Amino acid sequence: MHVFLTGATGYIGSAVLDAMIKGGHRVTAMARDPEKAERLQAKGAATVTGELGLPKTYVNAVKAADAVVHAAMESSPKGVEKEKQALDTMLSAQAQASQADGKPRVFIYTSGVWVLGRSVKSAEEDSPLDPPPHVEWRPAHEEKVLASFSASLRTVVVRPGIVYGGGRGIVSDLIKDALNGLIRVVGPGKNRWPCIYDHDLGDLYVKILESPAAAGVIHATDESDERVIDIAEAIAEQVPQKPDIRIVPLTEARKKLGTYADALALDQKVRSPKAHALGWAPTQTGVINSVPRLVEEFRNAQREKS
Ligand SMILES: NC(=O)c1ccc[n+]([C@@H]2O[C@H](COP(=O)([O-])OP(=O)(O)OC[C@H]3O[C@@H](n4cnc5c(N)ncnc54)[C@H](OP(=O)(O)O)[C@@H]3O)[C@@H](O)[C@H]2O)c1
Repeated sequence: MHVFLTGATGYIGSAVLDAMIKGGHRVTAMARDPEKAERLQAKGAATVTGELGLPKTYVNAVKAADAVVHAAMESSPKGVEKEKQALDTMLSAQAQASQADGKPRVFIYTSGVWVLGRSVKSAEEDSPLDPPPHVEWRPAHEEKVLASFSASLRTVVVRPGIVYGGGRGIVSDLIKDALNGLIRVVGPGKNRWPCIYDHDLGDLYVKILESPAAAGVIHATDESDERVIDIAEAIAEQVPQKPDIRIVPLTEARKKLGTYADALALDQKVRSPKAHALGWAPTQTGVINSVPRLVEEFRNAQREKS
């Protein structure tokens, strides 16, 4: 299939790009920066120079594709409004294009498990939402995507857990801290993070794309239910000089990290039955078992950067 991908230079988007190309799909990836676009071309993608806040830069690419995967997110205060506008643009462009050429379309939106809030009783896709302030805007965006489902537009909301692997993301930050001698754990530490390996997440997007029955909300977690403190300790054991681990109380963490601190302190058990029903299973089941591999991947990513 021909896929238009936003956020292809990002953490999740680059895993999706690699998996789509490996799966034999044709990808047109949006990039803001010409130098980054060249790197995407080297991976085998066609590119469009675009910006989420400027619909005219990408609307034609959306119309031309069979499917859209949205994995971009601007972290500035304007990010939420830009995403809202981008969703409206992309969903209506796909509906129009399908009406014009009679071909069905697919839209895959990247949300996240944090919308579930504290979920100690194994949340599934139909569990009620209780988003912390950091993502309280997100359910409305999910709803926009789900409400656009029609006979000619199959819409999917993927909720990944905290992504691990490579050189980016929250778990990599712990590895970086460990190598610098001090891991800071926000909140109680006994809280559990639902996690997912980046390659497994990329593979799930391909499964979703290729499965005509895949629709609605789909969780993407490895179901390992590991406590953050155990993850930190496993990482600490794996680096050459054992770092200190400091539990940072939530009130103190909020002063530095704002509402992000509360998201990091969530205690969540999240199941992914709909992903399993598609025949998907994660190859990595937990950060703790994967720590040697993850430290190696982190070092490789650092070497590639320098
Ligand atoms: N990482 C996780 O553990 C995780 C877990 C669950 C859900 N999520 C969600 O998944 C989404 C992607 O996360 P991520 O970790 O992959 O983020 P990321 O690594 O920061 O990547 C963000 C991507 O969006 C692009 N982008 C930012 N602003 C843009 C704009 N105005 N126009 C066009 N492109 C723009 C970036 O391009 P540049 O390269 O040009 O900056 C980059 O490709 C987010 O919604 C995030 O909340 C992430």
